[in-house]
Amino acid sequence: MNIKVFPSILSADLLNMEKSIELVKDLADAIHIDVMDGHFVPNLSYGPALVRALRSKYDISLNVHLMVERPENFVDMFMDAGANHLGFHIEATYHPQRLLKYIRDHGVRPFITLNPATPLNTIEYLLGEVDMVLIMTVNPGYGGQEFLPFCLRKIRTLREMALKEGIDLDIMVDGGIDLNTAPLVVEAGANILISGNTVFTSENPKEVIIKMKSIGYK
Ligand code: DX5
Ligand code: ZN
Repeated sequence: MNIKVFPSILSADLLNMEKSIELVKDLADAIHIDVMDGHFVPNLSYGPALVRALRSKYDISLNVHLMVERPENFVDMFMDAGANHLGFHIEATYHPQRLLKYIRDHGVRPFITLNPATPLNTIEYLLGEVDMVLIMTVNPGYGGQEFLPFCLRKIRTLREMALKEGIDLDIMVDGGIDLNTAPLVVEAGANILISGNTVFTSENPKEVIIKMKSIGYK
């Protein structure tokens, strides 16, 4: 399986954002941008201005992860800012199918995200609406948290569901992904690794990305 890596700039050097992006942009398959509202998650982070600034300078895909209540109130501003992929949490809205279709109709790739404790059957009927699902492997809100191993079973079951339905699904994982946990999630069926702390605190972020990508080729 071809493994992709989306570095999460939550752990980038805020006073040297450009330098952080330059370090990873040639090897990254997209840049992951976390949006937190202080309600859905107990933290605040980036907004559309950063997405717009990155879009104005780089061609790389921008993968925007909304951790906000009522994401329907925010999707337009992120699509206008230049997001290529735009995802929200199944726990945060009442009409997810409508919102996924709205995003897709605007030419942006939608994805749906599940918190660690949220069962897969909440998205069972949405798999026809998305070609990417994000499985959180920590409770969202902060970088640098420890991977939750019980999420492996969810990744495995989702991959089985997709295979059974004949859906070519991108399964992203986010939270606590490092060189020890990456092989576990890949073995379970994930093919896109989102990684913040491990990539950006490394002395050699490029090497980390290369190592993560090589897991799939074993
Ligand atoms: C957590 C965010 C993640 C975060 C992952 O709420 O959604 O994208 O940056 O960071 P690490 O890889 O440090 O766990
Ligand atoms: Zn994220």
